Amino acid sequence: MVGHKISLTQYLVEKDREAGSVPSELRLLLEVIARACKRISYAVGKGALAGVLGEAGTENVQGESQKKLDVIANETLLEANLWGGNLAAMASEEMDDPFPIPHRYPKGGFLLLFDPLDGSSNIDVNVSIGTIFSVLRCPDNASGVGHEAFLQPGSAQVAAGYAVYGPSTLLVLTVGAGVACFTLDRETGSWWLTEDGMKIPEDTKEYAINASNARHWETPVQQYVSELQAGKTGPRGKDFNMRWVASMVADVHRIMTRGGIFMYPRDHREPDKPGKLRLMYEANPMSFLVEQAGGAATNGLGRIMDVQPSKLHERVAVFLGSRNEVERVTAMHKA
Ligand code: AHG
Ligand code: MN
Ligand code: MN
Repeated sequence: MVGHKISLTQYLVEKDREAGSVPSELRLLLEVIARACKRISYAVGKGALAGVLGEAGTENVQGESQKKLDVIANETLLEANLWGGNLAAMASEEMDDPFPIPHRYPKGGFLLLFDPLDGSSNIDVNVSIGTIFSVLRCPDNASGVGHEAFLQPGSAQVAAGYAVYGPSTLLVLTVGAGVACFTLDRETGSWWLTEDGMKIPEDTKEYAINASNARHWETPVQQYVSELQAGKTGPRGKDFNMRWVASMVADVHRIMTRGGIFMYPRDHREPDKPGKLRLMYEANPMSFLVEQAGGAATNGLGRIMDVQPSKLHERVAVFLGSRNEVERVTAMHKA
């Protein structure tokens, strides 16, 4: 990069001057999260040399077997955010219950939720993985900061972001005033702004879905995808390409960069489970970023960020990315 480089701190200070959306307590919190992601990135980068690959031998609350890196990333984020005085509590994919800040540290005004390591099935095969996070305000009347304090719709988020541990380590962030992308200089350990005002094109010729589940999808999704697959000679009159990394961060980052639609619909296998992805620390933060970049995010019926959560580890169907495609598949659900 040539010319003056903008650090994460400078970006956040200037965003606050411009939009008033980053009080110093929030900036310090985001800097700590970025520092934790840097540590996770180094662990990911060392891989087998640091003995971080493979199974942890334990299960999380969702009944998924944990990889060593799921546990390491979770502990890294917890430890980094423990003492700063910016948080009242944290919640994670890897922990059954919220983790209140211990009494020996000052209690702050924010709540942090995270998917410490997204794309766990890709860890051992050296494919991009990441971290997803969401920041909420702690309600003033929250006593003891349990589950209820976290049960706020995505529209209440004050910040959200993800880190991608790929060929480069990136941090993509919103404080509700556009989306910025920072690249980690792995030699100096600094995050530098490498793209500001990320925008998702409204139209796309690329879709992402785990097509092995096709037989379980609901009719509108089957119909929508078959129209895409019909290509030039079908009702859409153009060819579409398909990509599925199986790390939401990597699939969403591709969409943030060049457009596309990402889908993880609910299906008939487990009718009680509305989809696979988790609302509070996967779908909501990604929806906030995507909307801030001009895209759309729905659960097939309505805006994801309007869903009132009823439990911390709630699941939701996800359709997000290029606005015109998301609106199209959503309309097909209503038809
Ligand atoms: P996690 O590794 O945090 O459990 O999340 C995995 C998620 C998401 O990243 C990805 O889009 C999806 O699961 C992949 O699911 P399939 O294995 O069903 O394709
Ligand atoms: Mn995940
Ligand atoms: Mn995860």
